Amino acid sequence: MMKKVLVSPKGKPSYEVLIDAQMDFSPLIPFIAKKQVLVVTNDTVKTLFYAKMEAELSSQASSFLLCELKDGEQYKSHESLNQIYQILLKNNYTRECVLVALGGGVIGDITGFAAATYLRGVSVIQVPTTLLSQVDSSVGGKTAINHLLGKNMIGAFFQPQLVYTATNVLDTLSDREYRAGLAEVVKYGCIIDGVFFDYLEKHVTEIRAKDPSVLSYIIARSCALKAEVVKADELEKTGVRALLNLGHTFGHGIECCQNYTGLRHGEAVGVGMVIAAKFSYQLGLVNADVVKRISNLLQALLIPVEMPEGIDQEAFVAAMLRDKKNVDGKNITFVLLGGIGQARVDKTISMEKLKIFLETEVFV
Ligand code: NAD
Ligand code: GLY
Repeated sequence: MMKKVLVSPKGKPSYEVLIDAQMDFSPLIPFIAKKQVLVVTNDTVKTLFYAKMEAELSSQASSFLLCELKDGEQYKSHESLNQIYQILLKNNYTRECVLVALGGGVIGDITGFAAATYLRGVSVIQVPTTLLSQVDSSVGGKTAINHLLGKNMIGAFFQPQLVYTATNVLDTLSDREYRAGLAEVVKYGCIIDGVFFDYLEKHVTEIRAKDPSVLSYIIARSCALKAEVVKADELEKTGVRALLNLGHTFGHGIECCQNYTGLRHGEAVGVGMVIAAKFSYQLGLVNADVVKRISNLLQALLIPVEMPEGIDQEAFVAAMLRDKKNVDGKNITFVLLGGIGQARVDKTISMEKLKIFLETEVFV
C-alpha cells in the first residue's frame, strides 16, 4: 500500500511524499497533464526507469522532453545547469512548465535549482531513486550545484510540488549506495526519534535484506521526521534544521581530506556520527552506552565507523574550518547528542577542546 507523508513548510503550500511499492508514475499525471514537461536524469538512471516513465506519462503532457546528464557528483555543475536551461529556452518552455527530477540527490539538487531559477521559478517534482534521496535530499527544498571552491555553494531553498518514489527502485541500487542512505536513516533516530532508533536496531536483518514493508516504513518515517524539522525551520535559521547535520561536520572533514574520492557522503556521515557521539561522551553529555549503540547499529548495517587510514589531524581540522556553512566566527558548529533521539547544536566548543578530543579519541 502506498504510504503518504505531508510536508508543510510554514507559509508555503503543503506537498505530499508518496512512497509506493512499485514505481508506476501514475501519481504524477494530475501534476503534468497538458503541461510542458522536462525530465532531468542521468545516463545510468535513464537506462533503468525512463522508458517506463515515458510510456506512462508522455501522452498526458503537451510536450515531454528529456535532459540526460552524465552520472556523477562532478556533473552537479554550472555546465549541467546550463544544459537544462538550454532545452527549456530553445523549446519555449513557459512559467507553467514542470521539471521532473528522476534520479539520486545529484539529479534532484540540480533539477530543483534549475526549477528555482528558470523564469524566476517553475514547478518541480522529485522522483528520488536512491535511498539517500528518498529519505533526505528530495524532501525539504534544499537545491544546489557545486562550485569549484565548495560543494553545494550555489543554491536556493525551493520546495517541490510532489515527491514520488517506490521501494522497488532500490533493487538495482548498489550495496554501497544503499548503505550510504541507511546512515542518514540512522541519523534521524539519533537526532529526534529514539523509538525509531530502537525499531532500526530490531529490524537489522530485514533492512539488510531490503524487505519492502520495512523499507517503506523506514522511508516514510524518515520523511515524516524530516517534514517536522522543515516545518519548524525551513530556512535553517533557528538551529532546528541544523540538527540534520549530525555527523556532517566531521564527515565533511573526511570527505574533503579524501578529495571526495574516498568514502561516500553517507559513509562519511556514519563515521562522523560515531565521532560526534564520542565527543558528546567526552564532554559529559551522554553515557558510554549511547556511543556503543550508535556504533553497533551502524556496524550491523555494514556502515563504516572508523576514521579511514591516511587522514592527518591538522588537515582534518582545516577542512572543517573551511566549511563556510559550519563555521560561526572562530568556532566550528557541532551537533552533539544528549541521548539517543536528542541532538543539539553547539557553537561554543573551543578549538582547544576539539584538539584534546581528537588527540585522545580519534587520532590515537
Ligand atoms: P547520486 O545522485 O550520485 O546517486 C548515486 C549513484 O546511484 C549514481 O551513480 C546514480 O546514477 C545511481 N543510481 C541512482 N538511482 C539508482 C537506482 N535506482 N539503481 C541503480 N543506480 C542508481 O547520489 P545520492 O547519494 O543519491 O545523492 C548525493 C547528492 O545529494 C550529493 O550531491 C549531496 O550534496 C546531495 N544531498 C542533498 C541534500 C538536500 O537536502 N538537498 C541532502 C543530502 C544530500
Ligand atoms: N540534508 C540536510 C537538510 O536538508 O537540511
